Amino acid sequence: MTIAVIGSNMVDLITYIDRMPDPGETVEAPDFQLGCGGKGANQAIAAARNGSEVLMVTRVGNDAFAANTKANFAANGIDTTYVLDTDTTSGVAPIFVDKNSQNSILIIKGANAKLSAADIDRAKADLEKCSLIILQLEIPLETVYYAIELGNQLGIPVLLNPAPATPGLELDRITGCDYFMPNETELALITGMPVDTLEEVKEAAKTLVNAGITNVVVTLGARGVYYLTESGEGEIPPFKVDAVDTTGAGDAFIGAFAHAVETGLDLKGALTKAAFYAADSVTKRGTQYSYAYAKDLDFP
Ligand code: RIB
Repeated sequence: MTIAVIGSNMVDLITYIDRMPDPGETVEAPDFQLGCGGKGANQAIAAARNGSEVLMVTRVGNDAFAANTKANFAANGIDTTYVLDTDTTSGVAPIFVDKNSQNSILIIKGANAKLSAADIDRAKADLEKCSLIILQLEIPLETVYYAIELGNQLGIPVLLNPAPATPGLELDRITGCDYFMPNETELALITGMPVDTLEEVKEAAKTLVNAGITNVVVTLGARGVYYLTESGEGEIPPFKVDAVDTTGAGDAFIGAFAHAVETGLDLKGALTKAAFYAADSVTKRGTQYSYAYAKDLDFP
């Protein structure tokens, strides 16, 4: 079965810093890495490296980055039929990773901002054959809503990772999602509720299940994962590792989860595998560079 990722790709410009410069100041940084990124592309690569067939629907620009992005998808075995050329710049993401392995990310959407409902229609004949559609929020919201509607019409489960946190995401247009997978910030934004404690996270997640979303999965960083469905709730404890770079860990989690669900694991089993895969990724530098091939990991 094939997983479809409808979403973004970016060129990650990762600068490892001792500290951010003050306004007007120039500061030398110790290291830099150029890599393929973007939340959609990262999730596609993670799913592929876990062993899934993946179809990518995305837009690249008319610059030197585009060919490399396409080649990267192809090298990872991803179907690039709908990696569409666009007469603008590719998406880029200047990223700063500090000594505590925390990252700050700027995104310039470029071609990603042009991914449209018409592009989804272009891919419809192939999307119909997919068993899961994954979405994030680095493309226009109207495109996201359209993809959810199409998934519902075709009877294909839809996973929405509402990242990055985007004001204006309308709850009543995403209730058709089978999997809604926010972090705490994103959960607070969509519900308007506090999420400082686990009890508050649970209350907020409950409003989403009550609104019609089948599975709500909240990633809590170093505190693990909380999930809620109509039939139950649970927590996945974190895997303790020495983190060197957390960039893209959330995407590693989504891609690995999607693959695990597609192989027939139940929610708890799939989330456990995904948490393990994401934990491994933070022990290495870079975004997609840090994503292991499943055969190299000893999953729980
Ligand atoms: O989630 C990490 C990703 O966010 C990076 O790859 C960057 O491109 C931004 O999209």
